[in-house]
Amino acid sequence: MTDFESFRKQALDELLDWLRIPSISTLPEHKADMIRAAEYVRTALERAGLAKTSLVDRGGHPLVYAEWLGAPGKPTLLLYGHYDVQPPDPLEEWVSPPFEPQIRNGNIYARGATDDKGQTWILVKAVEWLMRRDGRLPVNVRFLIEGEEECGGEAISRYVSEKPPELAADAAVICDSEMFAPGLPSICTGLRGIVYGELHVEGARQDLHSGVYGGVAPNPLMAIAEILTALKNRDGRILIPGFYDRVVEPAPAEKEAWARLPFDEKEYLEKEIGAPELTGEPGYSVFERTWARPTLEVHGIRGGFTGEGAKTVIPARAVAKISMRLVPEQRPEEAVEQLRAAIAAAKPRGVRAEFRLLHGAPASLVDPENLFVKEAALALEEIFGRKTVFIRSGGSIPIVGLFNACLGIPSVLMGFGLPDDNLHSPNEKFHVPNFFAGIEAVVRYFERLGA
Ligand code: BES
Ligand code: MN
Repeated sequence: MTDFESFRKQALDELLDWLRIPSISTLPEHKADMIRAAEYVRTALERAGLAKTSLVDRGGHPLVYAEWLGAPGKPTLLLYGHYDVQPPDPLEEWVSPPFEPQIRNGNIYARGATDDKGQTWILVKAVEWLMRRDGRLPVNVRFLIEGEEECGGEAISRYVSEKPPELAADAAVICDSEMFAPGLPSICTGLRGIVYGELHVEGARQDLHSGVYGGVAPNPLMAIAEILTALKNRDGRILIPGFYDRVVEPAPAEKEAWARLPFDEKEYLEKEIGAPELTGEPGYSVFERTWARPTLEVHGIRGGFTGEGAKTVIPARAVAKISMRLVPEQRPEEAVEQLRAAIAAAKPRGVRAEFRLLHGAPASLVDPENLFVKEAALALEEIFGRKTVFIRSGGSIPIVGLFNACLGIPSVLMGFGLPDDNLHSPNEKFHVPNFFAGIEAVVRYFERLGA
């Protein structure tokens, strides 16, 4: 076995160990796992030969920092990833348990396999490999790996807003996005923003008999239904006054490039969605609807009787978790105000309705002409042997906007996930060849930037 081959094998084994730690940031009972997962990557960075490896405390779950600055005159890259994962439920739909990684058909199945432990591990291992091979790096690097990306925590934004000298860099490099298709190298040039919160609705003082009081008592679950349908119509158009005022359409050239992407809508519907048909705003392509148009979704509704059998009750209160995805130029604070006003206007008689904000972040755009982006595209081309495509994503990586606003740096989003990797879903997976190709592409990227 060549050196690199045994290195790859070990990198994979280590990733599997990291995946065994259930670092679910949103669930308080996993606090100790969060620290273990952070410490796991910190020690790996230390072993790789990086300096100042540390856990940075800004409240919430720790940030992991490490640096290697031995290439004066060369660019400095801020390598970002997240060690936290989404909750794995519904557990019964997993073929193998979410925190017992299994390799089947060349894929690692585990929560966090691609989002984002597997992809963060690409950056860690690319650096380690170069250090091992050359005893040095062609560029300067600083790692910043957070544990609250999936729950909208603010530790990282507090840290970045301080503009600490440890974060001075020329560009951020992030592996936390997807390739457009297998084998097709892709750079993500746009992410949507987000506003996430809870709609709390209260009616009667306590649950009531639905026969005795039905007809006069307000029903908070019905109120949630009424409010939600007043916020968005059947065509996916958001009805919140002023909501679209700042929305910027993608440039015609960008839309034309999207139209040239290899895409079969029927196959997308069947393979990725698995519903009877697609929904959303008429007159906009799937890419526009998912990448460049704002949305409003409901994620869960709590209230009333949900057990087996029948119980005739009018619940006293109900909660809906809702989010809006925002596009460039929309402002999270403003969108929240507009949403609150729309809820107040839509609320039926007899209930109190309140929107409680959990977190928000603006959308972000990256200039494809930026030197750091172009070099990444070329490095990817060298490894994958195909021309890199520039795509956007409908997902959010909240800190990208602040990297730009506070640190004045662009983010290079070179992602190695695949469209069917089941992010946030049961049976999340990561294609092992993409893990290895990712390491090679990042190595190549650093070499190009240092040349
Ligand atoms: N890695 C994803 C975002 C993503 C997915 C980017 C696919 C590009 C392609 C990220 O970890 C994520 O899921 N973020 C959350 C953030 C939110 C909870 C604040 C999201 O988008 O829901
Ligand atoms: Mn992610």
